[in-house]
Amino acid sequence: LRKLHIALLPGDGQGPTLASHAELVLNLIQQTRRNISFDVTQHHFGGAALEAGESQSLPFATLNACREADAVIACGIGDARYGLEPERGLLTLRQELGCFANIRPIKFPSSSLAQLSAFKADRVEDLDVTFVRELTGGVYYGDRSEASDGEDGAAVDTTRYTKSQITRLARVAGSYAMQFNPPKPVHSIDKHNIMATSRLWRSIVTDVFEKEFPAVPLRHTLVDTAAMLLSSNPTSLNGIILTENLFGDILSDQAAGILPSPCLLASAALTRARGGPGLFEPFEIKIKGELVNPLSIIQAISLMLETSLDLPLEAQGLVRAIRRTLDPIELIGTNVRTVDIGGNATADEFTQQLLQHFDYELEAINSAEM
Ligand code: IPM
Ligand code: MN
Repeated sequence: LRKLHIALLPGDGQGPTLASHAELVLNLIQQTRRNISFDVTQHHFGGAALEAGESQSLPFATLNACREADAVIACGIGDARYGLEPERGLLTLRQELGCFANIRPIKFPSSSLAQLSAFKADRVEDLDVTFVRELTGGVYYGDRSEASDGEDGAAVDTTRYTKSQITRLARVAGSYAMQFNPPKPVHSIDKHNIMATSRLWRSIVTDVFEKEFPAVPLRHTLVDTAAMLLSSNPTSLNGIILTENLFGDILSDQAAGILPSPCLLASAALTRARGGPGLFEPFEIKIKGELVNPLSIIQAISLMLETSLDLPLEAQGLVRAIRRTLDPIELIGTNVRTVDIGGNATADEFTQQLLQHFDYELEAINSAEM
């Protein structure tokens, strides 16, 4: 029996509702797969922690529970009543857990959804880009000073990268690329014609790939060119996009915008390419208001099964169950879509249908093992 401890952080906005959908999926896995047992504990996080009387958006008890867990799921962040303190809690959590590698796959969970893109379907249905974004360095964590007094007072932000920060991230991208046969191409994105950190980036990445991943095709692209390609010919960047924190933040949102809803994707923050604890989030973690589509947290679970928990069969089963739930009626027999992607199902109806498909997939894994 594998006992896995999951720290679940409901947090703000749609987070608490997403957390309840996450529990349904985790429960199904442990009920159906008798060799897996999840110990799911919930902890205060974000504006909700402050609301509950904690003195910080990331309370010590929460951080400690996350440190001891096999994986952490953060469901939502952001509460205007507390300014930027909730977001700071998320940045501190990423840094304290040492989760420097942000993995963001951008892909239609069912290619039939390409019809709903703002782009022409045949130009984007094969989109398959995975961001490997540096997450605990760069301008996010560099020295900063707010505008000083006086009419022309300056504000300052600094981007700082060390060789080892770049080296370890390049290794995550390289070993991720090597999991595919043939290895996926890696597009390293920088602003090498302007920034010193980008020149260091380009030279370290080149070195790491030459020495350690000679079989992986490596291309260097300037960040402005990458932005243009994401709008003009996004599939030309298929493969892995390896980049620093701020570029990755911006470009991954741009790429995700090719999909018809922000709720279709998830984001993982890891300490290495496979195994090891990780932090899993909806791609868009700041959504407020009533929950329309719970898919983001289900995608986060699929990433968690694949990377931190090393349960690839269950992860693949979940990916198939998601696809079958979304695929159009003509192909499969049922299709349950939420209103953000042109359907009329509620979030609960979506999850219920998904659980049925996923149960079937999990039973198939059981039978194959006998
Ligand atoms: C993201 C988010 C965060 C970031 C915010 C909420 C601090 O936009 O995960 O991309 O900028 O990293
Ligand atoms: Mn972002």
